[in-house]
Amino acid sequence: MRILGIETSCDDTSLAIVEHGRNVLAHVTASQVKIHNKTGGIVPEIAAREHVTHILPVFERLFQEANLSIHDIDAIAVTKGPGLVSSLLVGTLLASTLGMLYQKPLIPVHHIEGHIYGNWLERDPRTFHFPLLILTASGGHNDLIVMKNHGVYTSIGHTRDDAAGEAFDKVARILGLGYPGGPAIAQKALHGDPQKIPLPRAWLPGTFDFSFSGLKSEVLRIVEKEVKKHRKLSSAFIAHLAASFQESIIDVLSTKLVQAALAYRVQEVHLAGGVSANQSLRQRMEEKAEQHGLTLKYPVRIVYSTDNGAMIAAAGYFLYKKHWEKYQKWSNILPDPNLSLL
Ligand code: KG4
Ligand code: ZN
Repeated sequence: MRILGIETSCDDTSLAIVEHGRNVLAHVTASQVKIHNKTGGIVPEIAAREHVTHILPVFERLFQEANLSIHDIDAIAVTKGPGLVSSLLVGTLLASTLGMLYQKPLIPVHHIEGHIYGNWLERDPRTFHFPLLILTASGGHNDLIVMKNHGVYTSIGHTRDDAAGEAFDKVARILGLGYPGGPAIAQKALHGDPQKIPLPRAWLPGTFDFSFSGLKSEVLRIVEKEVKKHRKLSSAFIAHLAASFQESIIDVLSTKLVQAALAYRVQEVHLAGGVSANQSLRQRMEEKAEQHGLTLKYPVRIVYSTDNGAMIAAAGYFLYKKHWEKYQKWSNILPDPNLSLL
């Protein structure tokens, strides 16, 4: 079964054709990073305009790359929400129009469910063993989710303020490193000492919740003090602060993930969402998973960690397999910026 996946919830126009929820036949993304780098974050109106400009060229390139036509597609999966409404609208309109024109089943997908299925891409489904414990960490979300079966989720923890990706983005802005903050901080951290600057960790004992706003405020306080003292930030100081900040986030995420796996007696843990692209987090979790006898999975490619159409197609495949009868009759898909997964 071949599914066209469409993802436009934020700042990437990303389309993919995926076979059996696993084999990526083609994948094309128009990134807006350079544009949003100038403004230090996403301006929704600009993001929507970029989607409008790029979605049809991306669509055409995708089918050229796959050497397929729309008639070779069995169903269309699209991100319905959550996200920026004007960005989501561009993707859902394309999906609804194609579905109506070519009489294809339409599958609305929750963005986070898409991230969860990013781990299924290019992997044999027989290597997955439910229940799974998934850390979804991105710019807008930071949750711990127990997945008992396909489409069956229980949230056991969430962020009380900033998501981990959001904290990366805000701290990068404080340090003048541009957008998106995650890769920029990870890069600087390579040259810094993660133990150099002591930073807080909000453990929130007795819960599997997260909180990163205190950490961000502490970074801001340290930076202001340093600027007062030396007028500017040296590159060594930026590297140490980036490394110490990243260490604080990784420490909390990896510790809570392991604690939750032990508490819920889950054998297999996953990293998903933009922050799962972080190499140091992946490495730390490799070590901890080995120590505790856990199976660890994270997306096999960095592009499957951040927003992408392939993960939406993969989620669409498993949703369709479970409830194919739901998707037979064409109906318009409207975006829902506040869509809930649970
Ligand atoms: O999932 P995603 O692409 O978009 C949302 O759904 O929000 O996640 C984007 C977030 C951004 O906050 C970005 O800074 C973060 O993921 N991110 C990273 C890395 N790559 C992206 N954070 C840490 N390390 C990275 N290498
Ligand atoms: Zn995302």
